[in-house]
Formats: sequence, structure tokens, C-alpha cells
Amino acid sequence: MPVDFERTAEYYDAMYGEEDAYRREAGQVYALAQEYGACGKLLDIACGTGLEAKYLSRYFSVTGVDLSRGMLEIAQKNVPGVRFMEGDMFALPLEETFDIAVNLYGSIGFAKDREELAAACREAARCLKKRGLFILTPWSTRETFAEGMLADSGERDGLFFCRMEAVRRDGPRHAEVVMKHLVGRNGEIREFFQTQEITLFSEKEYRGALESAGFRIVSRLTEQEFRMGAFVCVK
Ligand SMILES: C[S@@+](CC[C@H](N)C(=O)[O-])C[C@H]1O[C@@H](n2cnc3c(N)ncnc32)[C@H](O)[C@@H]1O
Repeated sequence: MPVDFERTAEYYDAMYGEEDAYRREAGQVYALAQEYGACGKLLDIACGTGLEAKYLSRYFSVTGVDLSRGMLEIAQKNVPGVRFMEGDMFALPLEETFDIAVNLYGSIGFAKDREELAAACREAARCLKKRGLFILTPWSTRETFAEGMLADSGERDGLFFCRMEAVRRDGPRHAEVVMKHLVGRNGEIREFFQTQEITLFSEKEYRGALESAGFRIVSRLTEQEFRMGAFVCVK
């Protein structure tokens, strides 16, 4: 089933927008950029509603790219000073180069096969200056994937939500995330159901795609060290 962030955009921040996690992660990205001399212009690939960009823009001049118009509309409201553009991570709509590129929070899991994974890595490399830094978080690797369920509810800025999600294996190379969401505002309750399909690439496939794109993997951060873990690469 295709990814449908148009429907979830309006309540994405209420359900997933843990500001502390984004703030912390942006600080980590900055520390890595300093370590590898990659401060300046940052490209946020699959930037979603701009929550990461909001904090990254404290340290970098940020450009955000995402496939979903709905997510980008929220992003532009969240961070008016940042440049956001519609685009596909497998064929980025950019000719300029950046000091650092990030593709975070497992968005790469929407690559449907090895060809798309390779294209995403190649495109990140193409948009980087020589010795530029690329930070990629896998959704979960084939080796580390674990099935699970979660239930949660809350309220943010007058929007109430209840969610239940099941993450389960769907064959040897895929996981599916079954989402049942209830969203309420001004006395009206709506329900949203969708299933997202995620590709489970192996550690070797990630490394192979990054290296074939011309990257040297300089650090592999665990899920304890960086949200969802990260490949830190230099072009
Ligand atoms: C889980 S969200 C993560 C958003 C953001 N990086 C964050 O940390 O909140 C996944 C995002 O990937 C975007 N996305 C999915 N496929 C994409 C593609 N081919 N090119 C660009 N963005 C894509 C979706 O629109 C969505 O905004």
C-alpha cells in the first residue's frame, strides 16, 4: 500500500512530535557536523512537518525536501524561515550542493527495493560538496527488526488523539505498520486507518548502497546512541 502522509499530516505533530527528541537529535547532528567540518548548508531529506528543521535551523541554513504536500504545508507553518520544497528522495529536485544532508526517522524504509535504496544514497551524494556529511537512520534493519504494538493518547493545541499501531513482519523483506487513529477537534471525532509497508534492508545492503554511492561510513551509531541508529558517512 502506498505511503499516505497527506491524511496524517494534520495530526502528525500531535502524535509523533516529541519536541525533546527532535531538539536532542538536532544537537547531535550539529556535534557530528562540527567533528567532520560540515557546518553551513544542510539538506533535510524527507523532512516531514519540519520538526527537525525547526531545531536544525538553530545551527544550519536548512532546506527541507519531502514528497508530501500536506506535510510541507505544515512544515512551512512550523518553521516559516526555512526553505521547503516538494521532491522525491530518489530524484532530488536540486542542482546546488550542501555541506551536510540528513535522512532521519527511518524515512528510507519507504524505498521499495535495493534500486530505490541505491538511488536515495546516490542522490544524497550528488547534492553534497566534497567531504560533505550524510546521516542516514535506517527504519530498522533486517537484523534488528522486532514486531510490536503500541497504544497512546493525548492532546496538543486542541487536537485530541488515540492511536493504536501494530508493527509486524510481512515476509522476509518487509514489515507492515497497521495504524488505527482517532482524532478529535471541536466536538468532532474522525477515524483514520492505514497500513504502511516498510522494506527491511540488511546492514550489508545499507553499507553496500552507501559505499557504492561514494560514501565512506565513518561511524555506525546504535539505537541507544541516536534515535533509530545512524550511518554517519563522508563523501
Ligand atoms: C516518518 S516521516 C519522517 C519525517 C521527518 N524526517 C521527521 O523526522 O519527522 C516520513 C516522511 O517521509 C516522506 N517521504 C516518503 N517517501 C518519500 C520520498 N520518496 N521522497 C521524499 N519524502 C518521502 C513522507 O512524506 C514523510 O513526511
